[in-house]
Order: sequence, then structure tokens, then C-alpha cells
Amino acid sequence: MEKVLDEAKQGNTLVLEAKEANSKKLYIESYGCSMNFSDSEIVASILVDQGYNTTNLLEDADLVLVNTCSIRDKAEQTIRKRLEKYNAVKRENNPNMKVGVLGCMAERLKEKLLEEEKIVDLVVGPDAYKDIPNLLKEVEEGREAVNVILSKDETYGDISPVRLGGNGITAFVSITRGCDNMCTFCVVPFTRGRERSRDPHSIIAEINDLGEKGYKEITLLGQNVDSYLWYGGGLKKDFKNASPMQQAIATTFAQLLEMATLAQPKMRIRFSTSNPQDMTEDVLHVMAKYDNICNHIHLPVQSGSTRILKEMNRQHTREEYLELIDKVRSIIPDCGISQDMIIGFPTETEEDHQDTLSLMELVKYDFGFMFKYSERPGTLAARKLEDDVPEEIKKRRLMEIVDLQQKHSAYHTHKTVGKIVEVLIEKESKKSDKEWSGRTPQNTVAVFPKENYKLGDFVLVEITECTTATLIGKAVGYSENH
Ligand code: 5AD
Ligand code: SF4
Repeated sequence: MEKVLDEAKQGNTLVLEAKEANSKKLYIESYGCSMNFSDSEIVASILVDQGYNTTNLLEDADLVLVNTCSIRDKAEQTIRKRLEKYNAVKRENNPNMKVGVLGCMAERLKEKLLEEEKIVDLVVGPDAYKDIPNLLKEVEEGREAVNVILSKDETYGDISPVRLGGNGITAFVSITRGCDNMCTFCVVPFTRGRERSRDPHSIIAEINDLGEKGYKEITLLGQNVDSYLWYGGGLKKDFKNASPMQQAIATTFAQLLEMATLAQPKMRIRFSTSNPQDMTEDVLHVMAKYDNICNHIHLPVQSGSTRILKEMNRQHTREEYLELIDKVRSIIPDCGISQDMIIGFPTETEEDHQDTLSLMELVKYDFGFMFKYSERPGTLAARKLEDDVPEEIKKRRLMEIVDLQQKHSAYHTHKTVGKIVEVLIEKESKKSDKEWSGRTPQNTVAVFPKENYKLGDFVLVEITECTTATLIGKAVGYSENH
């Protein structure tokens, strides 16, 4: 599964501490999912060793990199606009500036990007970041450089990412790359390649390192984390050809989760994204067993209609999804559950749409990310199905599911009023410099007066009021985890 989009983060420029010996300046901007933000940290780490320091001033940059997203057409249009902006800066203030496009749009459009966007000097796909130093040499010698080769085993497990623009409290740790699910609407299997898992020892080493640096929460990251499977390296689809020994000692996601939990018992552990067909009961039992694994599952369903799910190649029915939700609730009664939903998939009727609304009523998600279907070139849906739901109907259906989700989010926040919840302090509240902001294990934002509490503290907060999406309260002490 593709990961949650944090709209507030879109287009963030990443800046890290300067290394004195480095004289060149890198401006790196990221769009899309958490995986892209995590990848930008890997790229910055590679470039620090090539003599670059980061800057947040375009006008100063020797090299501008933009890590891009192709998930919907709108995401690509945003990037095109940014390229126009870079072009203007290059023309007016900074003629020597070089521009590179990274990520999914680089992979999808390849050399075409060089033709279409005259400003671009460098095109690098998600599996080729280690080649950037070589590609930069090509660029310095006046040639355009492209590497969009997708890999069977690249997981960047050996690169210790620099943590960019972070709060020093929460971090992402990438555990799988690529996706084999081939949902018919999705461009990700084409842009990020086949699914492969990262060596558990390098994952645990990274988590331990974060623990030593004082981080309090990590999110295990992948398009489809539940599908994690380490059998010595290689693609998930080749597991069947592994030796009996390799198969017998393979590490599953449930095992990895437990290893992470035991390695850092005081750290909060999250993971994203889960895919219904790959989520197994043993993961739920590990979650229930350990207090430091946050009770939240991002479990996209995309549609409530079995017919549409089949057209989407989602490998499960509405009923099977609802059974999984029942299982989650029986094993982890207070589990937060969130969704991704697409409306207006080709052939979606009013009846299918009503199925989506009724599924939402049954699950009552804590929150969700909802999208209008956007046809992506090359996907099976684009090749086989006409994008036949009219724009006004898409708009109306989207509004209906967004309204319903708001109702359900409000239901959950109101239910929490009067209760005491654990919050990890992550940052100052956006609304007031006298308040802290953090999240509950269920991933709901909570704000409360700072008093003498500090960033990174685990506190118990008594919730006194709420909005649709935010809990408001007062700290009543530290939590046991502190
Ligand atoms: N159109 C609209 N939404 C899409 N998503 C993925 N592909 C498309 C598309 N072609 C959504 C899915 C996914 C989320 C990250 O983006 O809901 O879970
Ligand atoms: Fe997620 Fe399906 Fe796309 Fe994979 S193919 S990233 S599971 S939406």
C-alpha cells in the first residue's frame, strides 16, 4: 500500500546541520508519501559525502532536487509548476544551478522529462539514488544524466539516513520497497518496482541508533508492510524459489515487529501502510501483547463495493474486509483504524457508492484520506476501463464520503472527552505557542498547555473538549513509559 499523505508536509524543504568542509549547496524538496520523505533523507546522506550542505534558498543552490509523486495527476501538475519556478530562478538569479527530478515521476516519465521540461539536467528513479554521484559527474561535464533502473534488491539498508527537518523525536524507518499487488488504479508498482524487504538486522540497528539518539517513536514504513518477508534478500515473488533452509528461517512482519518492540521497549512503534489481504492475525496478537506498539492501523479499503474491489484487483471482498475489522476490534478493542478511499473508479454506480457509505457506517473510521479517481497512464484500469464517472458526480460523491468521515471522526473525538490518554509531545501547537501538540497511540492529535513539560515527554492528558479531529485537554502527569 501507498503511504499516508501528510498535506501539511507537501513541498517541505529539508535542511540539516552544515558540514564545514562542504562548499556546494543542495536544495531538496519532497512531495508525496512518507516513503519519499524518507528517501530524501537517504539522498541527502549520499550528497553530504559529495561535498554538499543543504540550503532552503533556491537562489543559493548549486543543485536543486525535487522528489516527486505520480499517484494522481494533480500531484504531477504541482511538480510541473515547481519546475517552472526553478526555471524562473535559474534565468533571473542563478544561471549555474542544476536541476534533478527524483522519485516516481522520474521513473514514470524517464527521458521524456528531459524533453518536456527543458530545465531538467538529471532524472533519477527510486532505486538509483546510489548512482547520483556518478550522474552528477556527467552533468558537470555538460551531459544530461538519467538512471531509472529498478532493482531486485536495493533497500538502502547500508545507508544511515540523515534525519532532515525532523523534531528529533519521531522518525521513519523504511522496511520494504515496491509493491506487487497490482491494484488496477495504481502507478506505484510501475514507479517503485517489485516488492523487496530489508535485512532485519540493519532495521534493528537503525532503530537502536535512533533510540541512542533520543528518538521516542518510530514508524516502520513500506508500501505494504504486512507483506514484509526477509529470506536473505531478493524479491518477495521469488520466495518460492528460495532454499528450504532460507524459507524455514525467514522473518515475517509479525516477527520483525516483535524484534523492534523488544529492542526498544520504551519507544513507541508504529507501522504504515497495511494492506487488508496481507494483514495476518499474528500481527494483531503482537500488537495486543506489547504496550509500546501503538494501537492504530492504517487499513485502506478503497471501496465498499465487492464488484468495484474486484475491478480494482484488491484480492478481498467487502465481507472479508469487515471480518478483518471485527478481528482487529476483538483482539485490540481500542484500536484506531483509518482508511484510504477512492470514489469514481470506472463503472462505479450509485449503488456501489452507497456500499462505500454503508461500509464506512459499519467501520466508523477514526480518520481517512479520500480521493477522486485519477486515471494513471499505463495502469490496467487506464488500459481496460473508460474513466466514465462524470466530474460533477465524482465531486458530489467525494463530498458525501468526506462529510461522513468527519461525522465519524467527531464521534471518536467526542467519545474520548473525559478520558485520560497518553500523548508523546512532538511539537508546539500550530494555534498557540503556549501549548504542546502530540498524538495518542490511536494517532489522534491532542493539544494541551505546556506547563513544565518538554518536547519528547510521554504525558497523560485528561481530555476536556474536542473538535472533529483534535483532542484538547490538560496534562495530569507523566505516563508509565516516561
Ligand atoms: N486515483 C486516485 N487515488 C489513488 N490512490 C492511488 N492511486 C490512485 C488513483 N489513480 C490513492 C489510494 C492509495 C492512496 C495513497 O492514494 O487510496 O491508498
Ligand atoms: Fe497500494 Fe495497491 Fe498501489 Fe500497492 S498497488 S501501492 S497496495 S494501492
